[in-house]
Amino acid sequence: MKKTHKKSKFVETKYLNLKQSPVEQTLKNIEIEALATIKKASSPETLKEIEVEYLGRKGKLTHLLRGLKDLPKEQKPFFGKLSNEIKTNVERSFANKLQELENQKLKKDLSQEFFDTTIPAKKRKVGHIHPIYKIQEEVEQIFNNMGFSIMDGPEVESEYYNFETLNIPKNHPARDMQDTFFLQDKDDEKHGRFVLRTHTSPVQVRAMEKYGAPLRIIIPGRVFRYEATDASHDSTFDQVEGLLIGKDVSLSHLKGIMAEMLSTLFNADVKVRFRPGYFPFVEPGLELDFSCLLCEGIGCKACKNTGWMEFMGAGMVHKNVLKAGGVDPEEYQGWAFGFGLTRLAMMKHLIPDIRLISSGDIRFTRQFN
Ligand code: PHE
Repeated sequence: MKKTHKKSKFVETKYLNLKQSPVEQTLKNIEIEALATIKKASSPETLKEIEVEYLGRKGKLTHLLRGLKDLPKEQKPFFGKLSNEIKTNVERSFANKLQELENQKLKKDLSQEFFDTTIPAKKRKVGHIHPIYKIQEEVEQIFNNMGFSIMDGPEVESEYYNFETLNIPKNHPARDMQDTFFLQDKDDEKHGRFVLRTHTSPVQVRAMEKYGAPLRIIIPGRVFRYEATDASHDSTFDQVEGLLIGKDVSLSHLKGIMAEMLSTLFNADVKVRFRPGYFPFVEPGLELDFSCLLCEGIGCKACKNTGWMEFMGAGMVHKNVLKAGGVDPEEYQGWAFGFGLTRLAMMKHLIPDIRLISSGDIRFTRQFN
């Protein structure tokens, strides 16, 4: 055990000419007595009582300290210091003992507590991938297996890439097809203003500029439209762009690849069909539908009784777009498509409201664990 009571150095050195005075004697006796009592205390409760007995308002030590003011003036500094030392010493001793007793009590409590080792452990909550990115990974994997590379592009895009290079010149009414968030920034002569990209198509041109032809890529990414939200429209959603450029690429490749992708993803025999469609950056342009998975083509509420689900826009890449990307249209041709990854996830999981997807509500996302 550590010795808690230290003899005051002051007494040994500075007060040699005085034999221990009665006051000093009393002080020291009280200190010794207090320390001994503290040492014997067996519980925090008795310790508290002892504390009151010595240090309380009417406590023995307090009483003595109060009496010091009546001492002759020249003795005051010495006794003042001594009594402070004693008081600190006693207080410290209380604190140490209290800690010791509490530790003992805790140990005892724990050893007496009944511990049922058969109770199953609490399940730890681990995070998981959001349903959108889960399906993105699946789509990437399928295209990857068919030889496509995955590309990325900026979400803050220039008007040049988002419209101009895609055969949508300034003041052309086709710009109104997509409601755009314009970012306040200087109007660069070539690149125009900055916008939040309205589709992943600008990366078609960026990819051609960077890698030239031939090219076989998909570009998953987040896009933004300035529109009123409802159960099937949100201002932020995810798309997957596809681009295949080669010397003898035709739309039949597109049909085959999409049927394969959807059949693998849904683990079913999915059929696809083309309908004519208009997008300024493809010629001819088309829409691709796939056979309804719920009714298998018979017609139900989900497919509005048509047996088909509208899926994506596509077409042969327009000559002007190839040119903008630095690819010679006389030598190369290809197709492009763009589908909503968000819509695909909604179809796969039968999610009734698009706004749930980016709501951040974990009661929703947890269901896809
Ligand atoms: N970018 C078009 C859209 O967002 C989709 C599309 C991509 C159409 C490629 C044709 C070719 O609606």
